[in-house]
Amino acid sequence: LIQPVILCGGSGTRLWPVSTPEKPKPFLQLLGERTLFQQALDRVADRSLFATPLVVAGEAHRQWVAEQAGNHALIVEPCARNTAPAIALAAARLDPETLMLACPSDHYIADESAFRDAVHTASELAADGNLVSLGIEPDRPETGYGYIERGEVLGAGHRTARFVEKPDEATAAAYLADGNFVWNAGIFVFRAGQLLDELAQFRPEMAELVRSAVEEGREKGDTFLPAEASFSAIAAESIDYALMENTRHAAVVTADMGWSDIGSWKALMDAHESKGGAASGNARLVDCKRVMVRSNGPRVSALGLEDVIIVVEGDEVLVVARDAAEKIGSLAGDESR
Ligand code: GDD
Ligand code: MG
Repeated sequence: LIQPVILCGGSGTRLWPVSTPEKPKPFLQLLGERTLFQQALDRVADRSLFATPLVVAGEAHRQWVAEQAGNHALIVEPCARNTAPAIALAAARLDPETLMLACPSDHYIADESAFRDAVHTASELAADGNLVSLGIEPDRPETGYGYIERGEVLGAGHRTARFVEKPDEATAAAYLADGNFVWNAGIFVFRAGQLLDELAQFRPEMAELVRSAVEEGREKGDTFLPAEASFSAIAAESIDYALMENTRHAAVVTADMGWSDIGSWKALMDAHESKGGAASGNARLVDCKRVMVRSNGPRVSALGLEDVIIVVEGDEVLVVARDAAEKIGSLAGDESR
């Protein structure tokens, strides 16, 4: 059985005003009835393939996990130190031979069976000693993702020739044109023990602090609380920078699974459209083209609009041109509003 580890944390300002540091993206209902976090659990619900998932979340998000998933095997981080320490905590709690599937909870996957097939393929490469990423064919020079250059063929995947986290725009454009690069979906499969060995090699201090945070931590029912003193002493770093850029044992399995990280309202609108039609709840749209409305309060009426996104959340109203939706981080961070 593969052991899923579901990560939830982070902040995410690009879906303001709905996503906030108190309630970040994983815990929002964006596409479908279930929140992204719940969908991440649903994807690994087949107990003939997957063990009961282990959730790693921040203290600040514990209430959302409980509300949306009930009593769940949980590791609670006393503070946010990004994904490398979060994944390492889980690895240190598992048998070293366990095949671990590390999954973010901030993205959408339309084709769950393609996901399961890709994970199965990845687990075979992971059993052979690789740190395996799922890769996505890119369609734009996005700078918010990691890029993986596919090297020689390895089973049903490829050896990773190069892993570059969040390149600048010119580099991303060159990778897109090259045709041999895929995006890192942020979904990884590896043996728990190997992850820890490689962390000890490339980030010895982090590995040591994670080890003592686990050794000195305590269990409370289904919940594990790592020791705060050790964990908070860790320098925050993502797994992409800490390990994936450095390891010599990286591999990639390219998956066509309808993946979107829903990084902006525009991306959400695109995802709705690819499912057939823009979702506009609580709205009357007359003579509108490519308009998305989401309101948790008043009904919104719009006439003669094109390429506009309207979001009403509590006492905040966002009206943004579809093509400007990626830049709303500036509004989210503006305290003078
Ligand atoms: N438990 C825990 N603790 N989870 C965290 C933490 C943390 O401190 N920080 C982030 N996460 C969770 C997020 O909720 C998300 O589900 C996942 O880990 C990835 O973190 P992000 O902060 O969203 O990373 P990113 O989007 O900037 O980049 C990653 O994902 C891209 C694809 O969406 C990288 O892996 C990129 O290479 C990748 O392309
Ligand atoms: Mg993300």
